[in-house]
Amino acid sequence: MTETDITPAVDLAKAEAEVDLPPIGDRSRYDALMQVIRNRVTVRKFDAGFVVPEAHYELILEAARHGPSGANAQPWQYIIVRDAAVKQQIADYFVAEQRFRARAKMKFPTPDYRGLATAPGFVVVCSDMRWVNAFPVLNDGSDLDRMYRENAERILLQSVAASTMSAHLAAAALGYNVWWVTAIGQQEAQEAMRPLLNIPEEISVLDIFLFGPPAQSPYKRWRRPIEEILHRDEYNRDHFMSDEDLAEWIRTRRHRVMYRDASKID
Ligand SMILES: Cc1cc2nc3c(=O)[nH]c(=O)nc-3n(C[C@H](O)[C@H](O)[C@H](O)COP(=O)(O)O)c2cc1C
Repeated sequence: MTETDITPAVDLAKAEAEVDLPPIGDRSRYDALMQVIRNRVTVRKFDAGFVVPEAHYELILEAARHGPSGANAQPWQYIIVRDAAVKQQIADYFVAEQRFRARAKMKFPTPDYRGLATAPGFVVVCSDMRWVNAFPVLNDGSDLDRMYRENAERILLQSVAASTMSAHLAAAALGYNVWWVTAIGQQEAQEAMRPLLNIPEEISVLDIFLFGPPAQSPYKRWRRPIEEILHRDEYNRDHFMSDEDLAEWIRTRRHRVMYRDASKID
């Protein structure tokens, strides 16, 4: 792949005219995107023998690079992990963590993290939390500063998620399945991973992005019907869940929607 293949067109209108895209609002534009969005499906076991072409990493991270971010700070770093032994060490850590959670009676329906080691595409997503200073903060330790800082943290996390999502969609567009793993936020997990990847102290590991051909049949998971999430002009209180409703949902529904085929959910 040459540099020009991945360099974005600066003059978007001109670029569109050149490739003769359908006019603004044409349904075919939306359908092309939705095909990728619908086919972005998580699997938790991959074809370990597959080797991701280097060009695919570039294409995928090129998509990540175009993510929007607060103050255009682009506060993300992506580490491609290709060493099978390192993947295995990270997977082992997660398996141990999952056992710990089970013993701690967290009751979270934990997946089988052994599948991490099988992922041909393995990307560790990092950020430097000091980027919060690029967003509106006072930096004087006051209560007001704390309030703004809390929001700045949200801006940072949303920014990294926006970029990461572009990467996931790019992988899906290439036909891969994906896996977004965040169960690593804990301090101990960070400390376990840092030396493996020579990650500086100041850098936080936010998640791991895995992709590749699946080694288990992918299935579409349940989605809420649109009426359940869409409000018009004001918050529709019919959708409001009480604490009890929410606790009941988590108790009776969560495990069903996490690991089951939507077509098999009653
Ligand atoms: C922010 C975020 C965090 C996630 N964390 C984990 C995780 O730690 N472990 C895991 O197995 N899956 C994780 N997932 C994957 C979700 O479980 C999955 O996206 C969801 O069940 C919907 O399935 P789908 O991706 O096939 O549509 C995460 C997804 C997102 C967006």
